[in-house]
Amino acid sequence: MIKSFFKDKTKEEDVLNVPEHIAIIMDGNGRWAKKRNMPRNMGHKAGGENVKTITKACDKLGVKYLTLYAFSTENWKRPEEEVSGLMDLLVFFLKSELKELHENHVRIRTIGDISHLPKKTKQVLDDSIEVTKNNTGLNLVLALNYGSRNEITLAVKAIGSKLKDGSLDLDDINEDLIAEHLDTADMPDPDLMIRTSGELRLSNYMLWQLAYSEFYFTDVYWPDFGEEALMEAVKVYSNRQRRFGAV
Ligand code: IPE
Ligand code: IPE
Ligand code: MG
Repeated sequence: MIKSFFKDKTKEEDVLNVPEHIAIIMDGNGRWAKKRNMPRNMGHKAGGENVKTITKACDKLGVKYLTLYAFSTENWKRPEEEVSGLMDLLVFFLKSELKELHENHVRIRTIGDISHLPKKTKQVLDDSIEVTKNNTGLNLVLALNYGSRNEITLAVKAIGSKLKDGSLDLDDINEDLIAEHLDTADMPDPDLMIRTSGELRLSNYMLWQLAYSEFYFTDVYWPDFGEEALMEAVKVYSNRQRRFGAV
């Protein structure tokens, strides 16, 4: 990463309504590789490279939260070789990028149940989160072993146990309390949700948090979704009218 690139603000930001929180379903790595007669894990590697590109571009734009769907609770169904390849890639990415991310004030966080990730992956994640915990720049949020239904189920359990031990009353349950028990507790909801690769579904991503987000779908595979493609998505977002149920 070139440092000057991070802070070299474009003129675009002055005219664009920049989302505070962008959530991305990074899809299409496998098809990107297949098109090139490469193994799927080469697609993931290229996708990892693009994470750097999009992180830099979001930082430059002034986005405060970038939440990336990196591994779903359903992705364990993939061949063992692909799963371990993804876990190793994450370790490699964090080890090689941590220093520069930290220098650029990026705070690394996760959503999802990371306690079930391989020990090495969990360790490097814990380290990265710890090192960057006081950073005030872009929040790079990795959704890992994340599934919305799992997240909501765990929230219901946590609230249930507080009801049982008397620390909560039935009347305390409202939307804010539920939101506080989700992994995204202290984060704003996404303003813009982007899914690459042409699939038109949420695949268990942020079901609660995306209630009023703007959706942007593109046929481009994730490894090819570069800075220009992101700018196009933000431009489209800028021209949307959000009403939140009002007139
Ligand atoms: C998204 O790309 C990355 C992860 C799910 C980890 P895919 O691996 O789903 O790529 P396709 O959808 O098979 O092309
Ligand atoms: C969603 O993509 C999960 C991630 C991008 C990590 P998938 O490729 O797993 O979703 P489906 O199976 O096409 O719905
Ligand atoms: Mg996919």
